[in-house]
Amino acid sequence: MPIPRHILEVRQFDRSFVLELFERAESMRSTARSGFSSRLHGKLMATLFFEPSTRTRLSFEAAMTRLGGGVISAEYASATSSAVKGETIEDTARIVAGYADLLVIRHPQSGAAARAAAVVDVPVINAGDGGNEHPTQALLDLYTIWKELGRIDGLRIALVGDLRYGRAARSLARLLAQTRDTEVFLVSPPTARMSDELRLALVAAGLRVTESDDLETLAPSLDVVYQTRIQRERFSDVAEYEAARGRYVIDPAFMSRFNPRGVLLHPLPRVDEIHPAVDSDPRAAYFRQARHGLYLRMALLDWILGEQSTPVINAYSPGVVAPVGGDSAS
Ligand code: CP
Repeated sequence: MPIPRHILEVRQFDRSFVLELFERAESMRSTARSGFSSRLHGKLMATLFFEPSTRTRLSFEAAMTRLGGGVISAEYASATSSAVKGETIEDTARIVAGYADLLVIRHPQSGAAARAAAVVDVPVINAGDGGNEHPTQALLDLYTIWKELGRIDGLRIALVGDLRYGRAARSLARLLAQTRDTEVFLVSPPTARMSDELRLALVAAGLRVTESDDLETLAPSLDVVYQTRIQRERFSDVAEYEAARGRYVIDPAFMSRFNPRGVLLHPLPRVDEIHPAVDSDPRAAYFRQARHGLYLRMALLDWILGEQSTPVINAYSPGVVAPVGGDSAS
């Protein structure tokens, strides 16, 4: 039996996989515009969401539906699935894997999707596991940069906001290791700094990384500002959360200083860290970014479940990640 094509963490992806996926997402854009396809007819996807979501769950479900597949969903799994009775994620995954060809899981615990993947023989996609990873968000973020700027190399990128618990920013930072000549600026309040462990891993991966508290001064020279929400739900100390929120707000005054050819991204949802007056600025790409998630996820589902797909990716085995460039997942 072939190894299931799990999507669990960013370090699975190499540059060639990422760039081929972007090309596939472009063809999915045409597919979506023309309505529906039957490429995944007869396949069934289960979405198990133990945390709230708008974009990730609905874009996965829209992607599967547009490709002709079916969807079953546990939208409030932490309240309405048998997790309430104490069922483990492993047991839930084992059961649902008997009903569906693919599991998409969001869970508050780091490593939950990997635990599920370890016990099932269908592909598992990590749709966000606690403060750890959000790999498909990172893919759609870099896809958006590629779409907006026409390249992924030679960029100056500021990651702003919650770099301690924000899994989207953490995953994007890891994915930037697949780009070349990239300079990353980490701009966060003191209580929301990126861990030294991750920062040093980024440096070891070849990124030029600088911590800064002065977004204003950086603004004219940045190609990308990636703003994020302070993750209130993950702070155990309310005082630390209060100290972090409101420190970096993107408003029209900031945009007047920002590079005229730059792009402003946000994984969304936002609270108050981007003023709504910025939304009409052509450089504000966060709503386009969310839409790109549909095409990117269509491309991923087609690669995982379709017959014709062959790009290189590292197969994930729990505890073992194949060397970059290997493809044992065919
Ligand atoms: N960006 C993102 O993960 O959004 P949702 O929480 O709405 O899925």
